[in-house]
Amino acid sequence: EKGGYDSYMMKEIYEQPNALTNTLIGRLHDDTGEVNLDINLDPKSFKRISIIACGTAFYAGMVGEYLIEQLARIPVDIDVASEYRYRDPLVSENTLAIVMSQSGETIDTLEALREAKKFGAKTLGIINAKGSSMTREVDDTLYIHAGPEIGVASTKAYTSMVSAMLMLALWLGRARGTLAEAEGRELLHAARELPRLVEESLTPERIENVKRIAAKYADAKDFLFLGRGVNSPTAYEGALKLKEISYIHAEAYAAGEMKHGPIALIDENMPVVVVATESKLLEKTISNVQEVRARKGKVIAILTDGDTENARHADDVIYVPRTHEMVSPVVNAVAMQLLAIFIADKLGKDVDKPRNLAKAVTVE
Ligand code: F6R
Repeated sequence: EKGGYDSYMMKEIYEQPNALTNTLIGRLHDDTGEVNLDINLDPKSFKRISIIACGTAFYAGMVGEYLIEQLARIPVDIDVASEYRYRDPLVSENTLAIVMSQSGETIDTLEALREAKKFGAKTLGIINAKGSSMTREVDDTLYIHAGPEIGVASTKAYTSMVSAMLMLALWLGRARGTLAEAEGRELLHAARELPRLVEESLTPERIENVKRIAAKYADAKDFLFLGRGVNSPTAYEGALKLKEISYIHAEAYAAGEMKHGPIALIDENMPVVVVATESKLLEKTISNVQEVRARKGKVIAILTDGDTENARHADDVIYVPRTHEMVSPVVNAVAMQLLAIFIADKLGKDVDKPRNLAKAVTVE
């Protein structure tokens, strides 16, 4: 049932091109440049958006926060569900509360949804599991259609959630008139390329390269992950994946935050994984990388294909296919998943049975 793979997690990593196709299919219309999500909410009826989720879904939500604010210019706040439900949030009929969940059963997220509804918010679920509890309580659901995810560590649900968020941001931006048609089309095309680009991220040469890097650093006791802008959540997700399945301590920061404290940790024993793919802020990220190297930290850089210029600042490079910056978190997440799973493999961990973790957390 693992289709020839050693683990469900590996199988699901390789299912991502398909999962993404299913997330996007029928929703992007190249001819008109429109996104059709079949949701009955009036995109002009709310003044703010609250995103609520846990764990990996929360990091997908962070990408969503960035995309929605950029493309649709609506104020977005984001909370982990366990905080939202107890913090007496400011909610009104003008609020759209978006809950994100692979299982649709996470109790913290479900209770947070009930809290938002109690104060009159409109609600939307970005959910994988058909007919799950959350889908029965939200006003509307944007299914991600990633297919069943069995591996405890979430992989394909993450990339599909981020893609669903991208479509939602496009839809909101176009409907609210904040996103020009030409830019909308450009992003729509970039989204459509995602399954192919993720497939290209999984070629044997790329896999061998990540395996080699994983073997080189698998004995490290701590890792730092850095990213900026729309890829700061990619760093958080990378650290979470590594912790969950390899039990190596990992922390993630927005790269510009490093100088405010975490830089004190850096020495020759600290591998630092940096998302440094093409972006408006790439130069700033590279100067963060130089700060790491000046303190003898080992740099594993995620770079855009062909960027040999910045490769000289890194000890090791994971190249990823070129994408539009706004969709790059999907492609970059795959590199993070591969690094984590190959480190865990190298350490002999059973990635499908990470200690202390369950697939759906239905207790508080
Ligand atoms: C991470 C992971 C967890 C879940 C979290 C939310 O790999 O699996 O962090 O993402 O428990 O689960 P869902 O999305 O089912 O609400």
